[in-house]
Amino acid sequence: MQPLPSDATIVILTGAGISKESGLDTFRCEGGIWSKVRLEDVATPEGFAADPDLVHDFYNARRRGLSDPTIAPNPAHHALAELERHWPGRVLIVTQNIDDLHERAGSRNLIHMHGELLKIRCVHCGLPRHWSDDLGTAEMCPDCKRSGTLRPHIVWFGEIPLEMERIMAALSDCALFVSIGTSGNVYPAAGFVAQVRRLGLAHTVELNLEPSQGATLFAEHRNGPASQTVPAFVAEILGREIHG
Ligand code: APR
Repeated sequence: MQPLPSDATIVILTGAGISKESGLDTFRCEGGIWSKVRLEDVATPEGFAADPDLVHDFYNARRRGLSDPTIAPNPAHHALAELERHWPGRVLIVTQNIDDLHERAGSRNLIHMHGELLKIRCVHCGLPRHWSDDLGTAEMCPDCKRSGTLRPHIVWFGEIPLEMERIMAALSDCALFVSIGTSGNVYPAAGFVAQVRRLGLAHTVELNLEPSQGATLFAEHRNGPASQTVPAFVAEILGREIHG
């Protein structure tokens, strides 16, 4: 890869594959989450309206999973955090993941476009608030005191991803777009590479276990586990060894 200009900005899109080696399941790999539950039942507004208990159980289990002591950021998360520490203000991570592993590794300039497992919101009054316990239909909103109005702060299928304006502005400005651990099945994230290429400015790289749906749209691909490809790629950008 060509050296980047000193004021270049980088947008990094991450998906479930970056957290796989941290012990969290992906969605569409063999044995993945969508082979065990129907996404229509647990990840749509219609599913929540039909059976809120089922939806709460699904996210409660995943939220509890995050506090399992064996779940921790892997060298890929750490490498991205180190990149940001070296180039503060020039690296934006846009993650589709709802886990908090990027934050735990130290990344700060981060957009959770599909929401966060550790946040909930009230459909009546609320801004998102931190939540680490189980959530149920009887729970009362701490602000408006209504019951049954709290929902996971997750962007479900059919809902609009978060902070799209900021993401689009960053994509049109960046010199490098890197996609890590995402199968390229879900829009709008799957369309980011085409968006960047339309503007024709940025170099595009895919780091994934295997070629994704949109692999041919990237100028460069590196296939392999994120815990290896990401630290190696970051080291190349920084021009030196990094330690996960
Ligand atoms: N390193 C790198 N990539 C990996 C690894 C690994 N160790 N393990 C798996 N992968 C790759 C898989 O090859 C696959 O291409 O990660 C990708 C995971 O794809 P998905 O399971 O489809 O996850 P993702 O692309 O993040 O899903 C997008 O779909 O259901 C929704 O809202 C959910 O945000 C999610 C969205």
